[in-house]
Amino acid sequence: MDVQEVLKLADDIVFAKTGKHLNHLQEGILRGTWQRQKYPEIAKTCYRSEAHVKKVASKLWKLLSQTLGEDINQSNFRYTVERLQLSIVESNFGNYYAQIDNFSVCENNSHPSEIPNTEKPNQPIYNQTKPKERLDLSDAPEPNLFYNRTSELTTLENWILGRTRLITILGLSGIGKTALTLQLISQIQHEFDRIIWRSLRNSPPLASLQTDLIKFCRGDAPVPVPYPEERATTGALPLLEYLRSHRCLIILDDIQTIFSSGQLAGNYQPGYENYGAFFKQITESSHNSCLILLSWEKPREIAALEGENRPCKSLQLNGLGAEAQEIFREKGLAEPEKWSELIDLYRGNPLWLNIVATLIQDLFGGSVSEFLSYDTLFLGDLESLLHQHFDRLTASEQQAITWLANTPEPADISKIPENFQLSPPELLKVMQSLGRRSLVETVKQNGRSHFTIAPVIREYITNKK
Ligand SMILES: Nc1ncnc2c1ncn2[C@@H]1O[C@H](COP(=O)(O)OP(=O)(O)OP(=O)(O)O)[C@@H](O)[C@H]1O
Ligand SMILES: [Mg+2]
Repeated sequence: MDVQEVLKLADDIVFAKTGKHLNHLQEGILRGTWQRQKYPEIAKTCYRSEAHVKKVASKLWKLLSQTLGEDINQSNFRYTVERLQLSIVESNFGNYYAQIDNFSVCENNSHPSEIPNTEKPNQPIYNQTKPKERLDLSDAPEPNLFYNRTSELTTLENWILGRTRLITILGLSGIGKTALTLQLISQIQHEFDRIIWRSLRNSPPLASLQTDLIKFCRGDAPVPVPYPEERATTGALPLLEYLRSHRCLIILDDIQTIFSSGQLAGNYQPGYENYGAFFKQITESSHNSCLILLSWEKPREIAALEGENRPCKSLQLNGLGAEAQEIFREKGLAEPEKWSELIDLYRGNPLWLNIVATLIQDLFGGSVSEFLSYDTLFLGDLESLLHQHFDRLTASEQQAITWLANTPEPADISKIPENFQLSPPELLKVMQSLGRRSLVETVKQNGRSHFTIAPVIREYITNKK
């Protein structure tokens, strides 16, 4: 949905309610809000005082809230419109209004905004129809400020349009997997009949997850016989019938919870091994739906299933680039010329950057150079986040990553120290696993691969008691 469609939608809603079109300032507020601007920026663009913009905006949110039957404000406007559009806009706005008694839609957009106000019934529009249940993001967090990621979004969109059936988005905690996927949904939701988001944070067994997904994907369709839940244990994949009859997008977040700690990356906890077969069947069976996995670790099967011309792909999510400066601007940090150094040290991880920006504000009144003048990288709240990753490693992985932490330059693993307890094949396996956890970085030097780790991880490991 682009901004023009949003303005048209809002204009239709406001006109239907008040008999008036959106005026120039109301349009400016909606346009700015859609583009994630704050009031001071909108006020500048519209050449009005911030106080006036806030006053007009407050009335507008109230009007939209009454009409849509939901509490709308500046921070949830975009999210709410995106969430509602599947049930309202997509099902043909004109037809939708035509079903509602007493509801008038003005086709003429060039009306003056001050035309007479013909009061309309004060019922919420959203509740006046029974939209088909199509979107369930109840398990997803609310979207927040979001910068850039254009190339990742294009890649993901192309994969989806190219009928990829299984996509895995990988990266460390806080790198932005969830935020990126929420943004993706707003861009591609019209491709799908059903969209459902589930977090595996409570490690649900596959059978109960499947039952939940089927319940949503089935919608009003008749229940096949025998009942799918009964077949969940026989090895067949009952969900597939629904993935064939509707184009569904299923997002499973926090996949790492079904993997074992203390084993190499992507090994399932006892009782969760059937997830592996599930991912394989989703990839290999014929259907038009798509499963997106968000994880700290790459599931074991994916390496064998993925490929350029295969319906299984994975995206390694790296940090933000220069656009991460917006985070510092928003936090009010000083000395913009030092921000790129900070972004590099914290590898553009938006969560880490948010944490460190708060810390710089709290301790140094926003002075980045004062923070950087210390010899050691201050971790603060990052320590507990990093601990969660470190805690999952095997003893061999801990040994290898500690070696990397104590090796200042990128390391050539063909030149391991004599006292190293891992044989070369063991070390290769361990480095691959650390790579699948996004904990090591590879750099090419003189045509050979060398391995290193991010400064923040180095700091954490070298300071670890
Ligand atoms: N592109 C972005 N622009 C601005 N902020 C972002 C961006 N991506 C992520 N963030 C912010 O960074 C924080 C972490 O993002 P997110 O929750 O998506 O990370 P994650 O990779 O899903 O982490 P986890 O694996 O712990 O769930 C959130 O506060 C989010 O709003
Ligand atoms: Mg997440």
